[in-house]
Amino acid sequence: MSSKAAPFLEALASRRSVYALKPELPAGIATKDVQNIVQQIIKDTPTCFNSQGNRAVILTGESHKKVWDHVYNKIPLENFKKRPLSCRDEAFGTVVFMVDNVKTKELQDMFPAWSSAFPDFVAHSSGAAQISTWSALELVGLGGHLQHFSDFVSEALPQGAIEEGWKVHAQLVFGLPTAAPAEKTYIENDVKVFE
Ligand SMILES: Cc1cc2nc3c(=O)[nH]c(=O)nc-3n(C[C@H](O)[C@H](O)[C@H](O)COP(=O)(O)O)c2cc1C
Repeated sequence: MSSKAAPFLEALASRRSVYALKPELPAGIATKDVQNIVQQIIKDTPTCFNSQGNRAVILTGESHKKVWDHVYNKIPLENFKKRPLSCRDEAFGTVVFMVDNVKTKELQDMFPAWSSAFPDFVAHSSGAAQISTWSALELVGLGGHLQHFSDFVSEALPQGAIEEGWKVHAQLVFGLPTAAPAEKTYIENDVKVFE
């Protein structure tokens, strides 16, 4: 396809769940670069009524290990402990995506007719930020996967990482890829045009 959208579509297509990681960054990439990417994406991701309730923090080093160790210890079933253990020991860091529900409540008070829709709207916007970040990090040579151990993660976040009324939505765990992701299959799913 020759269009200005091609590089964007290629970036979307090359984003994958990469679980085989080691706790390093690619050559020439620093934590500051990851921070700049996340910061920019949080700023540029649209939100309902421009409410700008997306929040994120990046965990590396001890704070990353502490969170995933906590998740590992909290999970009751042996079978499900493997993932937090690999997050703790094989990934470099975690982007924790949150939503400021003080803002969600303000929206609900301002626009009561949409009150029940706002939790979905803010989750959509958080999801958009999550997937943009996932794609952008893979463009700079990182691998990542998305996790949802939000309640356990909340309990172990460092002091000052989360404010009153914020809710953790997802965790993007990242590091240096050590193997290609598994083959992916796609269904036939045509988008029809009606005129
Ligand atoms: C909204 C959403 C939630 C997901 N939750 C998880 C999760 O909790 N744990 C996990 O390992 N992968 C999770 N994934 C990853 C999907 O399983 C994965 O994106 C899908 O199988 C397609 O594979 P790909 O990411 O390699 O394209 C999630 C993906 C999305 C979009």
